[in-house]
Amino acid sequence: MNLKDIHTPGPIGVFDSGYGGLTILEGIRKLMPGNDYLYLGDNARAPYGTRSFEVVYQFTRQAVVKMFELGCQLVILGCNTASAKALRSIQQLDLPQIAPDRRVLGVIRPTVEAIGNYTRTGHIGIFGTPGTIRSESYNIEIAKLYPDYVTTGQECPLWVPLVENREFDNPGADYFVEKYIDTLLHRDPLIDTALLGCTHYPLLLRKIRKHMPPQVRIVTQGDIVARSLRDYLERHPEMAARVSRNGSTEYLTTESAEKFSETGSLFLAKDIKARTITL
Ligand code: DGL
Repeated sequence: MNLKDIHTPGPIGVFDSGYGGLTILEGIRKLMPGNDYLYLGDNARAPYGTRSFEVVYQFTRQAVVKMFELGCQLVILGCNTASAKALRSIQQLDLPQIAPDRRVLGVIRPTVEAIGNYTRTGHIGIFGTPGTIRSESYNIEIAKLYPDYVTTGQECPLWVPLVENREFDNPGADYFVEKYIDTLLHRDPLIDTALLGCTHYPLLLRKIRKHMPPQVRIVTQGDIVARSLRDYLERHPEMAARVSRNGSTEYLTTESAEKFSETGSLFLAKDIKARTITL
């Protein structure tokens, strides 16, 4: 399909490897309920967090092309792993070729821009998937904006599986939540701000709060990304005009539609109906 000259208004795309991006979609929808949204979870191939750069890039690229074909003019990578490993290549290599007027934005930059509003000590802990933490994207971006801050990244390889398998509220999850928090705070006891740098982690928030010392602020990304997107649309009226506005949301998954509908409804605390697609 030639995507180059099609400017028909369409939904804002929100992409994630699985269910995690629903926390980003919720933040955005709360702030801008009038827009149309298209959510795509690549549940069949989740988790992305332990996959190589090349694989995350190829999977994310396929998802973005599909969302463009389905009418999105603007796609948010509501996934830190995809933002860390695929965003730059898609923006620099792919967009000019396939759809120069469309845009793909990530979640890392807006989060980093907001982080200064939270910390007093300048000691920031970042929880993320092995992919996000090893990419060092957060440390590098924070150092650019706030050279004096001390950042410590903590890989949490078992938190996404706890969420994807709906174990996030069960007692067994406590062990792994406490374990990664303790490891992080042992590495830097001066941390006063803990960033949940993975869109799945807000679903573990109750347990993270329970095991985190009360003086540490926990930062989630949904509201931050939503405010940043609103600012972006205000600064880019030509893109705002290409967002359709009927207040609808469509949910797509690469896994079983029944499974996504059931688990997605649980996460969003309301009934949703998903559709299966192939990439
Ligand atoms: N939700 C994704 C993120 O924000 C990662 C989940 C996964 O490993 O697939 O990093």
